[in-house]
Amino acid sequence: TPGNDHQAEDATITQGVVESNHAGFTGTGFVNYDNVTGSAVEFTVNAAAAGNATLTFRYANGTTVNRPMSISVNGSAQTKDFPGTGAWSTWQEVQVNAALNAGANTVRASSTTANGGPNLDRLSV
Ligand code: GCU
Ligand code: CA
Ligand code: CA
Repeated sequence: TPGNDHQAEDATITQGVVESNHAGFTGTGFVNYDNVTGSAVEFTVNAAAAGNATLTFRYANGTTVNRPMSISVNGSAQTKDFPGTGAWSTWQEVQVNAALNAGANTVRASSTTANGGPNLDRLSV
């Protein structure tokens, strides 16, 4: 079922830049994470009711090396793999299950290695 789209380029970015030089993104661009540990994008996700939700991250990783990120939802974190997609213009999705509160939720995707995160297009919930 289609979810609510939250564009990464409209979220709060720590150590990253909005770019649009690799085709296939949605919205107006994507976030190029700085290639350092701890670079991050933070979203506010509103939920009508408390419960489990699937968070779908659309990303590209043009390298052959996984770029894992810590996905924190209201401070509760899990690490997810963001493997290579073959090219910076090839976008794939990673899904994360998380418990959401009713109302506003803080979802933060932060890189856990010195390679930084992948390029991040959007979060759909
Ligand atoms: C390239 C690519 C960027 C990407 C970067 C990286 O410079 O053009 O979009 O973010 O590699 O390795 O992270
Ligand atoms: Ca980068
Ligand atoms: Ca986007």
